[in-house]
Amino acid sequence: MRQRKAKNMEERMAALSHYMVEEPFEKKGKWKGLFEQPDELYLELGCGKGQFLTKQARLQEKAGYIGIEGQDSVLLRALEKTVEAEIANIRFVHLFVRDIRELFADGELDGIYLNFSDPWPKKRHAKRRLTYGEALIRYRQVLKPEGFIAVKTDNDGLFDFTLEEIGRTGLEILEMTRDLHSSRFSARQVTTEYEERFRAAGKPIHYVKVK
Ligand SMILES: C[S@@+](CC[C@H](N)C(=O)[O-])C[C@H]1O[C@@H](n2cnc3c(N)ncnc32)[C@H](O)[C@@H]1O
Repeated sequence: MRQRKAKNMEERMAALSHYMVEEPFEKKGKWKGLFEQPDELYLELGCGKGQFLTKQARLQEKAGYIGIEGQDSVLLRALEKTVEAEIANIRFVHLFVRDIRELFADGELDGIYLNFSDPWPKKRHAKRRLTYGEALIRYRQVLKPEGFIAVKTDNDGLFDFTLEEIGRTGLEILEMTRDLHSSRFSARQVTTEYEERFRAAGKPIHYVKVK
């Protein structure tokens, strides 16, 4: 039964293959070539079902957007959403990323979005958090000098940890709030699936943008 489900998934993904990047490690340094003369290149790491990316890509049609997601079932929804909305400037990668430098060359990206990353609450799993200090340093390396990392989460523990790691690695905080939707930064925000779910439950959204 499980095998049939996986096969079905593969077939559905293959039908949407135009939007998938099958050999992502070979695209290192060449991502812009996937888009029609993009002026900027952005990544959402852990893009889930793609709500954020599809809305964001619509707002900035001249930029190229890359969504990386390790779970095939949610990635499939992101692909379907992109096709339904006829959005041309997004490509997806099916992968659990370990080291971002394997995929992107130094200075290749203009911005990285980490939206509602898994909190990995146990201390012994701290290195798995996408905002672990060494990971932040790697993101910095693949970003342009003015490029940013934007983090949103509802999770107090992950946010406190992220701020500590930002301090430890010497990144510069550009914007920060513990209640995004009551803040001056809210107007520019595109909401994600998880964000809408947590807001509906009355949880404040934490946000930090660094460079
Ligand atoms: C809690 S969901 C958030 C989804 C979406 N960003 C949102 O805000 O609605 C986190 C997603 O990140 C994915 N993820 C976690 N670690 C990842 C990694 N190292 N590489 C790719 N995807 C990852 C998970 O599979 C999951 O779908």
